[in-house]
Amino acid sequence: MIPDPAVNIWAQTKNSLYPLYKERAEGRLPEMDCHAQAAEIYADYSLPEDRLLDAAGGSGYFFWSLKQRGLLGHYHLLDQTADFVDMGRRALAAELPPERFIVSSMQETPGRYEAVFCLNALFCLPDYRQGLERLLMAAGRLIILRSTFGERNEIRYETDPYLDPGAERLKSYFNIWRVAEVTAFMESYGFAVHTVVDRRTNDQPEISAGKLFPWRWLVGVKS
Ligand SMILES: C[S@@+](CC[C@H](N)C(=O)[O-])C[C@H]1O[C@@H](n2cnc3c(N)ncnc32)[C@H](O)[C@@H]1O
Repeated sequence: MIPDPAVNIWAQTKNSLYPLYKERAEGRLPEMDCHAQAAEIYADYSLPEDRLLDAAGGSGYFFWSLKQRGLLGHYHLLDQTADFVDMGRRALAAELPPERFIVSSMQETPGRYEAVFCLNALFCLPDYRQGLERLLMAAGRLIILRSTFGERNEIRYETDPYLDPGAERLKSYFNIWRVAEVTAFMESYGFAVHTVVDRRTNDQPEISAGKLFPWRWLVGVKS
């Protein structure tokens, strides 16, 4: 289920995300607010030998937020965009062995991890269920999600101004998932779920590229 790069919108961001993700993986840009918050949420649950999965983690720059806080565990990056994973593998070669960088879709998440992170990515699935189910099945103790959550499901399949010239015909999902439904879904896999206020937006919708992003956190702890 790894999409052909020709139709993977993320592989059509050579002018926008590629340079940004490279610099982030090299640790040359300031930390993202939400990555700082994810690492701080995790700090309350962390154990030194934890296997960690950064699902749909781009080029793996969340690693630096964990490292800065001494939360190393055994970090693994998974992403469906091979170029991003390669970028991370190269940039973090002095920090992590190459096998920690996995090209895969969330829907086929391999292995088991004590803690799974999925930051800023569930909104781009056509439906959250299959991807989230595989992450919940892979998560031994903890799952930390940041995505667009609201009062009702809203499918938004729209143009994306960040795509490279020539790729504008490819639309992208910017979906909003009903928070009560996703919470019940997570609970059905044995997780006790709580919300955390988003520090960057104070749970107020953020506008980016002309679209509203109601960022929220869901934290699932295996009960
Ligand atoms: C907005 S970026 C978020 C990257 C990073 N997690 C962050 O917080 O900055 C979304 C990422 O999800 C990846 N992605 C999208 N759909 C995916 C899927 N079904 N399985 C795995 N990765 C996916 C894309 O390749 C991209 O790197």
